Amino acid sequence: MNAKSIICFLAVMFAIFCGIMPAQAGANDFITPGKVWNDTDGNPINAHGGGILYHNGTYYWYGEYKKGETQDGRIDITGVSCYSSQDMMNWKYEGIVLPAVKDDVNHDLHPSKVLERPKVIYNSRTGKFVMWAHVESADYSKACAGVAVSDSPTGRFTYLGSFRPNDAMSRDQTVFVDDDGRAYQFASSENNATMYITELTDDYLRSTNRYTRNFIDKYREAPAVFKHNGKYYLITSGCTGWDPNQAEIAVADSIMGPWHTIGNPCTGPDADKTFYAQSTYVQQVAGKRDCYIAMFDRWNKNDLENSRYVWLPILFDNGKISIPWQEKWNFDCYTKNSGNRN
Ligand code: GAL
Repeated sequence: MNAKSIICFLAVMFAIFCGIMPAQAGANDFITPGKVWNDTDGNPINAHGGGILYHNGTYYWYGEYKKGETQDGRIDITGVSCYSSQDMMNWKYEGIVLPAVKDDVNHDLHPSKVLERPKVIYNSRTGKFVMWAHVESADYSKACAGVAVSDSPTGRFTYLGSFRPNDAMSRDQTVFVDDDGRAYQFASSENNATMYITELTDDYLRSTNRYTRNFIDKYREAPAVFKHNGKYYLITSGCTGWDPNQAEIAVADSIMGPWHTIGNPCTGPDADKTFYAQSTYVQQVAGKRDCYIAMFDRWNKNDLENSRYVWLPILFDNGKISIPWQEKWNFDCYTKNSGNRN
């Protein structure tokens, strides 16, 4: 190295140290719930109400790209964003994979409408990536599911339209693919009073007429599903809009129910308010038998773009499930917990 390159190197190190330049990919070794998370370009990750797809060794995180002013709890639709990662700590921005449709005021994706909780699943029969989302009018009276499809996980997705599965309202929602390849939509229905679980068609593009009504009149929303040791688990929130409330976890032997409520899985400070956050998805760490990440959104209702992510480990100990608060953690925490096997 000559004197000029040494000066250059020191200047770059100084800029990274001062936070002027983003550090390179691979920089995040921990998950820091509630803090600003930057992507590999150094921009805050913008993927709210999101979900993850693990496909061919890569994690894809899809979410609501919330940009601009929040007015009366609503923000214009920009689209669904996608980020990719090998380790779920360092995320590369892949762009807006389902953009708003600006030139048609009647379109579901016009900026004046609402687009929430997008989730993407892969259909191995058709080779297509299928997105389901909550599609709304500005006053939340539409209560529909919207479906989009793509040949690639990074889009673009083609929007197919919206409908009410079995003519039932569909608001907060997620989709889940079981080990046998069958897929299901979980959605808050009947004005959010009851959770519907609906089997999807083989191509995952529509609902079948097989569905069950669950948690009747219990007003549960923000569903996040996972399967562990042959049992199905469902994390939900109560219905208090953008304000936090207490989470609940339920268990079932069959995905269509009956579901049995276990209680609040969260432990630690502010566990009764889900750490000021709301569930959105659960993702298993690939190749690790008992390692699941519970994903929550900490909504900032006056500035939705600046809502934060709270991701925490799900711990299993002697049949007891907990989601303990952590300031900062990585996947080592699973091995430190005796109940979780790798
Ligand atoms: C919450 C819901 C969010 C959003 C919000 C609007 O209950 O979980 O996804 O719809 O209401 O107030």
